[in-house]
Amino acid sequence: MATIDFSDPTSLARDRAASGPLGRAAMAALGAPSILNTQPWQWRLHHDTAELWADRTRRLPALDPDGRLLTLSCGIALHHAATALAADGHTAEITRLPDPARPDLLAVARTGGRHRPDPADIRAYQSMQVRHTDRRASTGGPIPAAQLGTLRAAAEAHGAHVHVLRDEQVPELIVAAQHAADLEAADPGTREELALWTHRPPGAGDGVPAETVVPASGRRVSARPFLPDADAGLAPGAGTDKTASYAILFTDTDTPAAWLAAGEALSALLLAATGAGVGVTPLSHVIEVGHARQLLTGMLCGLGHPVLALRLAITDPTTPPPTSPRRTPDDTITRR
Ligand SMILES: Cc1cc2nc3c(=O)[nH]c(=O)nc-3n(C[C@H](O)[C@H](O)[C@H](O)COP(=O)(O)O)c2cc1C
Repeated sequence: MATIDFSDPTSLARDRAASGPLGRAAMAALGAPSILNTQPWQWRLHHDTAELWADRTRRLPALDPDGRLLTLSCGIALHHAATALAADGHTAEITRLPDPARPDLLAVARTGGRHRPDPADIRAYQSMQVRHTDRRASTGGPIPAAQLGTLRAAAEAHGAHVHVLRDEQVPELIVAAQHAADLEAADPGTREELALWTHRPPGAGDGVPAETVVPASGRRVSARPFLPDADAGLAPGAGTDKTASYAILFTDTDTPAAWLAAGEALSALLLAATGAGVGVTPLSHVIEVGHARQLLTGMLCGLGHPVLALRLAITDPTTPPPTSPRRTPDDTITRR
């Protein structure tokens, strides 16, 4: 049976944080993707529980005043931790939003019994190690419908929904994305926030580095403009990206519980996509701008509440994109 080596002998902090399965799971969740790589969570480890707290000091007041994308990011970290526990041979017992008086306590995880990790657990864990946001153009043909169906099922097992856009719906997303990009570019608060999170001090361990960003223009559906195009450090890839697919992640209600579940669903989709050689780029500017979000709601014919748009594209595993930094265990995990 394959085994997982969670140890990293080069870091004492890691050794301290990683003792015990819950500590190792919180460590593994450091790699979870998040809005602008803010990593807006804190783990508190107790004797037999790990608490996941929203870290509102890392909230984005201009882009995400309601904390929708913050909570979704924390849901991804929660699913990453559960995935690591499964690969480490433990079942996870998770209580979500256990205390209405403490809404920032998003989840409490305990280990249940031991179990023998199956190949899917190991594959998901391995996908966590190699997943990165790849913003470059698709390097392959269209993603087969059956594969899109598998990705949708991975997400829907966690209580959120995925609508893959039909060709005739893509122009509506193009309009929403352009509108959102134009509005955010004209808003000083948003510009300031984007500048803050794309120009981090050395060693901060967070934010979006210029070398991971492609120019926003030249795409069918405009990407989020993080930086002036001239400063984007990653070559966008050949072609116009016309074989990419687009999807909307959506929920039944527009509540923190639904946003947390959507994050877990997105994590499951991302890990399944990584395993299948499909790169997923979240497009959140269409959620951040109210009118663009309404356009997406219309595209769902009232079926639910959009929480994120996704661009899915075949990627070339032999030339992975540069990686983004992460905070240290000392910054994100405390022992009680
Ligand atoms: C909720 C959420 C929203 C995001 N929105 C965008 C976006 O609009 N455009 C984009 O290029 N990347 C977006 N991302 C990707 C993050 O910027 C990326 O995950 C983060 O910088 C860490 O990089 P990594 O995924 O390579 O580890 C988003 C990620 C999450 C979880």
